[in-house]
Amino acid sequence: MFETAEGSDWVRVLATSGVAEELIWDKSPRFRVGLDPFLLEIKQARKPVVSVDMRTDPRTDKAMVERVGLRTGIHVPLLLGGNVIGALGIATFGDEGVIEPTEMELEHLSVFALLVAAAFDRVRLLDEKSVADIEAARRRTKQILLEAELRQAQKMEVVGTLAGGIAHDFNNLLMAILGHGQWVREGMAPTDRRRESMDAVLAAARRATHLTRNLLLFSRKHVIALQPLSVQQVLHSLGVLLRPMLREDVALRVEVPDEALIVRADPGALEQVLLNLVNNARDAMPNGGALTIRASAETIDDAFIAVHGGSLMGRCAQLTVTDTGAGMSAETLRRVFEPFFTTKEVGKGTGLGLSTSHGIIEQFGGHIAVESEVGRGTTFRVLLPLCDEAIAADVAQTAIETAPGKGVVLLAEDDEPLRRFIAGLLTRSGYRVIEAADGQEAIDEFRAHSDEIQLVLTDVVLPKRSGRDVFEAVRAFQQDTRVLFTTGYPTDVLGPLHGPVLAKPVSPSELLTAVRRALSCPEPNR
Ligand SMILES: Nc1ncnc2c1ncn2[C@@H]1O[C@H](COP(=O)(O)OP(=O)(O)OP(=O)(O)O)[C@@H](O)[C@H]1O
Ligand SMILES: [Mg+2]
Repeated sequence: MFETAEGSDWVRVLATSGVAEELIWDKSPRFRVGLDPFLLEIKQARKPVVSVDMRTDPRTDKAMVERVGLRTGIHVPLLLGGNVIGALGIATFGDEGVIEPTEMELEHLSVFALLVAAAFDRVRLLDEKSVADIEAARRRTKQILLEAELRQAQKMEVVGTLAGGIAHDFNNLLMAILGHGQWVREGMAPTDRRRESMDAVLAAARRATHLTRNLLLFSRKHVIALQPLSVQQVLHSLGVLLRPMLREDVALRVEVPDEALIVRADPGALEQVLLNLVNNARDAMPNGGALTIRASAETIDDAFIAVHGGSLMGRCAQLTVTDTGAGMSAETLRRVFEPFFTTKEVGKGTGLGLSTSHGIIEQFGGHIAVESEVGRGTTFRVLLPLCDEAIAADVAQTAIETAPGKGVVLLAEDDEPLRRFIAGLLTRSGYRVIEAADGQEAIDEFRAHSDEIQLVLTDVVLPKRSGRDVFEAVRAFQQDTRVLFTTGYPTDVLGPLHGPVLAKPVSPSELLTAVRRALSCPEPNR
């Protein structure tokens, strides 16, 4: 029995039975209609074709007839709605000799062929239906998954909006807790037994700030501003923060290449990603170990993607954070980037670190991946497309020109720990810093050193005299000193200010970049 389709030139053997079975399957399970004159005739005439003796019939392939031992051959079309959908071939072989079929026999064969065609069509329909059923089921599943995804996205959006709204105010409260707490702590005698409690308060508040930052980033309330920046510089300014985060028995290594790695990212958000990864690495190594942060330039090709996933191609900056800690099980590994997924005890983790990091890296057009093995440690890999060469050269040039920083900065900040922190950061970066704890002190210091001071970095809200007063005094006295404001308050409640404003909490690299920019600004702000 053969199958063919209307308009098709191909024929396929569907079923065989009898002596030549194997030979037919071997020789021609599929062939062109044109190669078989009987089939060609059937397709055109749509009625049985008989060859009484195939050995002498001019239409047959003699070698084939000889090999198979064919004698009489009868070919009947499988007709469905007038179309030939196949053929039924019957033959006698060898000793069976030659038989001439009667009209009646041919009639019977034709009816049988009709039944076969109908049965065949039914099977084909069932096949098609089951394919269609599978397709429909697949579409339904996809729909259900999409709906679930949408519901999840909506849920996340609600959580995000809610969290983001609270996080903003919460952040300001935390700044107050930290500032005052620190002040109380400094005033305590070394023998005071309450010191430990105060340290615990401060540690909890610090952890809360970290959490709040994640919430702000997670809810996209933190405006991400993409700008070309040097990966080396981010790592450099972050370096000072990392050591105190880690236990002494954790060896920290930061490896950066000489060639400039310039990517388009938001420095604060990128730092937060690295802090999240470092925090996780620290938690995974409660008994010590090694933490390695490595930056390199990589060319991503198909082979790389096959191993690490993602779809980024071309030149990328790669940042890896590797720990020698506990590692992760397959189940944890599958869920690490899920929001609120945590294996940590209540109060130790919220499960926002990696989902936030994932979101941030995606906003940078990058890719984050993880490899881990239980007991052997973990590597997180961040890939960010490298910037255009022209921009890269430009940023690298600025980096070289301004590092280390030069100049004298007057820093007016009443929050002492914060002032110390900023002063330390600026000093380490090469600036000389004169400190003032209130507005009046700032004005006095400026008058005493006006010829050396190139930049005044002042909080907007200060005791005694405000940041605005400091600005007025500076302008009245010295025309080209740059002034940069910092504030923990939303800028819209402060009213217009005569200069750039940095919103606290400010990350080290944001601060250094702003200082550098203010100093290299051709015109002082008025
Ligand atoms: N370096 C690592 N080694 C082992 N497990 C890790 C590592 N990084 C992440 N994990 C696992 O992934 C989970 C999710 O990490 P994620 O940073 O998102 O949340 P978290 O650290 O639990 O809480 P949060 O970061 O919000 O404080 C962790 O609870 C931990 O089980
Ligand atoms: Mg974490």
